[in-house]
Amino acid sequence: MNNQFLSILEKRRSIYSLGSNVTLAKDYISELINHAVKLTPSAFHSQSTRVVVLFGNHHLRLWTLVKHELAKLLTPSELDITVSKIDVCFSSGFGTVLFFEEIDVIKELEQAYPLYADNFEKWSEQANGMAQLTVWTALAEENLGATLQHYNPLIDTAISDEWQLPKSWKLIAQMPFGTIEKSPDDKEFISDQQRQIVFE
Ligand SMILES: Cc1cc2nc3c(=O)[nH]c(=O)nc-3n(C[C@H](O)[C@H](O)[C@H](O)COP(=O)(O)O)c2cc1C
Repeated sequence: MNNQFLSILEKRRSIYSLGSNVTLAKDYISELINHAVKLTPSAFHSQSTRVVVLFGNHHLRLWTLVKHELAKLLTPSELDITVSKIDVCFSSGFGTVLFFEEIDVIKELEQAYPLYADNFEKWSEQANGMAQLTVWTALAEENLGATLQHYNPLIDTAISDEWQLPKSWKLIAQMPFGTIEKSPDDKEFISDQQRQIVFE
């Protein structure tokens, strides 16, 4: 199928072997991420998604914090395995995008539209997922690899305190990115018949 969007979508994969030898300017990358989030739809155009982009020592600090929080929970041997993974797969990269939802926006919507009140939290998480995909795909189009990680809620307080973020920002996901040091294996797909039904 000759469709530019699908070709770019196909290029996006989970890249677990990240490097830091990125030649793109940090300003360009942060603007790319900002634009990807800006163009992502949200329920009632609420624009509740927030992102923090960490480069350099901030990116390294994040993954040190993650290891520190994990050390409180894991046995020494479990920690060894996890630390090795973090070092090779995530902190070896060039930066990390942190995805949040602004809870105050959701609360305002719940009050303004009581009829839909039960849905706003769910919709905001869905919109955040959409933003994750647009950012992930935009990075892929620039030949940058990334993965989607979820060390929240374990790391929520440490992150909020470290970067003095608003208390109303709820952490949803972490996306380390960088150069692609190893291509991913092919993945298998369920059949088209299982995925889709068409009535004409
Ligand atoms: C909602 C969601 C949550 C995910 N959480 C994680 C995660 O916590 N850690 C991880 O390594 N990958 C995570 N992934 C990545 C998936 O495992 C991955 O996208 C899937 O296996 C397909 O591989 P691909 O990304 O290479 O296409 C997540 C993906 C989605 C969509």
